[in-house]
This record gives sequence, structure tokens and C-alpha cells, in this order.
Amino acid sequence: MAQSDYPTARQFLPEERNLNSLARASQGCQGCPLFRNARQTVFGVGAADAQIMLVGEQPGRREDEAGEPFVGPAGKVLDRALEEAGMRRGDLYITNCVKHFKSESQNGGRRGKKPNISEINACRPWLESEIEAVQPEIIIALGAVAARSLAGRPLTVGEAIGNWLETQEGRDLIVTYHPSAALRAPAESDRDRIFDVLASDLSRAWEAVGPMRPGPRAGV
Ligand code: URA
Ligand code: SF4
Repeated sequence: MAQSDYPTARQFLPEERNLNSLARASQGCQGCPLFRNARQTVFGVGAADAQIMLVGEQPGRREDEAGEPFVGPAGKVLDRALEEAGMRRGDLYITNCVKHFKSESQNGGRRGKKPNISEINACRPWLESEIEAVQPEIIIALGAVAARSLAGRPLTVGEAIGNWLETQEGRDLIVTYHPSAALRAPAESDRDRIFDVLASDLSRAWEAVGPMRPGPRAGV
């Protein structure tokens, strides 16, 4: 079946939309071909009232097994960057712009393959519903695939870095490196630089929402 034979995620959205009902309904999504070769839908997790939403590309092999975003090697890098920025996962809502693992076989195993634009678009209704439910002040796109989904146009991380952009919904958007870029760059100096940019972009977002933060941290 061709992509155009699939209906997009829209028709799988539940009528009443909160994070629980959305997560449940997403398990039955057949909006694009990617559900066929993955174990499960990996929906977002985190605080329902988070001020910051992090959006990755798609689940990897480990996430496909666990059913949670960023639990594999990229997740370890993300945790280190969050720690450096003085943040915890519990402060955030974390998701991906495509919710099934897209993979190809290689040497008897499976490795991730970049989602294409029709898969990104097919899956966007889930992301839109998460944004609608959480109402984050700032959305952070991790890498160019998430940036494309959120901004609705092609963007390179290089041109976007350091700027405030807008999502298709008109929300504040920061585009930064994907944590796996800090694992994959061949030169150690590049890996370090990418990690530093990621950590400082997280910190920039955290500082920007600081005055709006409830509880003992307010006003700090
Ligand atoms: N990479 C992503 O973009 N998302 C995950 O959840 C894991 C790895
Ligand atoms: Fe549905 Fe998204 Fe999975 Fe495609 S990738 S089947 S649109 S949840």
C-alpha cells in the first residue's frame, strides 16, 4: 500500500482529548505505514502542565521496546544536558514528532531510518493534540525533523540555532541539536560543542519560563 492509501492520524483521535485518552487512542493508530513494523506507539510522557515541551524525531529501538521516549543512548545524553541546565525530566513533557519506530534491517538487526515528510505530516495530529493538551510556553525541537514538523517548513539546525522561532500554532519555538548528534559527530571537539549548544538551549528555555514557574523556584 502507498502512503496515500493511509488516512493520517486524524481519524484515530479520540473525541475527548486529554493526555490519557490520547495516549490510549494512539496505540491503535494506523495513520501511516509505520505502525506495521513497530511494536507499539511511543506516546509522549511527562508533566501535563509542563511549561516546556521537548520534541524528538521518532522512537529508536529501545523506545520501541519500552514504549517510552528517550530511554536509550540518546536519552542518556539528554539527561546529562538536562542536568547541566539544572532541569529534571519531571519539569517537562517529552515526545516525538513521529510516534512509531521507523527502521530498516541491517546485519540481522534493525536500525532507525529517518521518517519522510508524509509520515511526519501523517503523525502531526498527535503532536498537535499534545500541544493543545499541555499548552507549553516553549517548545524545543530536537533536530531538523522535529523542527520541520513544528515549524511546518524545512529548517536546518544550523540556520535556526540561537533564534526564537514560531511553531505552526504560533508558539515559541527553539530549535537545537538532537542529542544523538552529540554521540555521532566524528570529532570529539564537535561532540562537545554540540552537547554544549544543546545544554545551553535547554537552559535558555528554562530561564525564559523561570518567572512563570510556580512554587519555591518562582522569582529565582
Ligand atoms: N531519538 C528520538 O528522537 N526520540 C527518542 O525517543 C529516542 C531517540
Ligand atoms: Fe500513526 Fe504516527 Fe504511527 Fe504513523 S507513525 S501509524 S501516524 S502514530
